[in-house]
Amino acid sequence: MDSISTALLLLILALLCLLLNTSSSKSRLPPGPRPLPFLGNLLQLRSSKDLLTSLTKLSKEFGPVYTVYLGPRRVVVLSGYQAVKEALVDQGEEFSGRGDYPVFFNFTKGDGIAFSNGDRWKALRKFSLQILRNFGMGKRTMEDRILEEGRFLLAELRNTEGKPFDPTILLSRSVSNIICSVLFGSRFDYEDERLLNIVQLINDNFQIMSSFWGEMYNIFPNLLDWVPGPHRRLFQNFDRMKNLIALSVRDHQASHDPKSPRDFIDCFLTKIAEEKQDPLSHFHMDTLLMTTHNLLFGGTETVGTTLRHTFLLLMKYPKVQARVQEEIDNVVGRARLPVLEDRTAMPYTDAVIHEAQRFADIIPMNLPHRLIRDTVFRGFLLPKGTDVITLLNTVHNDPSQFLTPREFNPEHFLDANQSFKKSPAFMPFSAGRRLCLGESLARMELFLYLTAILQSFSLQPLGAPEDIDLTPISTGLGNVPRPFQLYLRAR
Ligand code: HEM
Repeated sequence: MDSISTALLLLILALLCLLLNTSSSKSRLPPGPRPLPFLGNLLQLRSSKDLLTSLTKLSKEFGPVYTVYLGPRRVVVLSGYQAVKEALVDQGEEFSGRGDYPVFFNFTKGDGIAFSNGDRWKALRKFSLQILRNFGMGKRTMEDRILEEGRFLLAELRNTEGKPFDPTILLSRSVSNIICSVLFGSRFDYEDERLLNIVQLINDNFQIMSSFWGEMYNIFPNLLDWVPGPHRRLFQNFDRMKNLIALSVRDHQASHDPKSPRDFIDCFLTKIAEEKQDPLSHFHMDTLLMTTHNLLFGGTETVGTTLRHTFLLLMKYPKVQARVQEEIDNVVGRARLPVLEDRTAMPYTDAVIHEAQRFADIIPMNLPHRLIRDTVFRGFLLPKGTDVITLLNTVHNDPSQFLTPREFNPEHFLDANQSFKKSPAFMPFSAGRRLCLGESLARMELFLYLTAILQSFSLQPLGAPEDIDLTPISTGLGNVPRPFQLYLRAR
């Protein structure tokens, strides 16, 4: 490079720096590390093994509210229970937008419920919640669906006959089938290729999104579109899922009867027909495909991953496992499957499930939020459109909320009388306006599956319990547990 080009480059860099700093001072942004043009704070961020560790370290230096540049994009990061709660709950409306998340957005283009904003998001969320409730979410009918699917899972588990196996696909197929039955009208046979495809594609994408490549794609999507790597599978996998859903939608259209809706897709098709004349309607083929896709993704990998983390915890702490089984035996016995009504009489089991979710912390940085208007927050003026990362991990590890946050300790959710005790800092499903849409379904699934499994089996590790490594194999969108095998001892 000759000296004129070098000087020109330096001048441009200096101007960009100036621009970044000027806009900060106007909006009274929170403090943060000084960014470089284009790279932002990448150098500081890459000093740790993953983005979560880097962002947590920066919060120790700059406090619970700080500004960081993920490449050229400015983001405000919130850490600790108090700051996250003030944003998501106390100022929930302002923080209710969805921030940029290219690993999803570049596929859904803002058409699905989880990555849309404004009126589209409101319309899709209200409609989806209503339909899921109509099909039983949070009610007895959903409980029956889960229990039915649970019986199929138990039969599969019995077939392992005490031999070692990896539970990943087995659990995901079963969990996925529950949301599949709501979306597509019926469950799949466990060997059905469509179900196997759904589970494998989602599992692969969750792993990529939780890896270095997924994180880098979120920071430099345009650049990484040209770079080879596993991130390129993300959109191929998503396309294959979309085709699968589109095929089912076509079948639905062929036999659609608005008077007797069979499932979520039928209801959506009716809504599309009702609003056909409205040019501003948010209900059309793209929003149907992407909303179905979001529900399928959300309803499959999250619960499967939580169950795997919980299996590891129960094997590492056999006394906890034994105490849950004792409670199941006392309250339910062996003659029938556990049902939701049993939960209030099972405070220890309830506490263990909550603690497993807190400890596993499967979406540690939440999905990004965005300010929908200029907002004063803790004395800072955050401009409309600012993306916000709420570190749920720091909420779940906040020492002001949990006595021994780094330990797996069910006592975090028990009071002095050993009754179940809620914690406001329990936020695996996030909080506020964007609270996970499937929370009540997921909580039902976790309770019914775990109790049904522990009623029939003891979970046994292949090695010594103390050798079980609970640290995730990778962290990004999710905390992915290390692959493991176990065997089941019939009780
Ligand atoms: C243990 C299980 C689950 C966990 C830990 C979990 C966690 C989360 C989290 C952290 C968010 C982001 C919330 C935010 O932006 O503040 C979310 C959003 C969402 N989840 Fe879940 N989820 C689980 C299960 C499910 C299930 C079963 C479904 C399907 C019915 C589902 C559907 C969704 C949807 C559609 C959104 C987007 C909501 C929106 O943007 O308005 N999730 N979930």
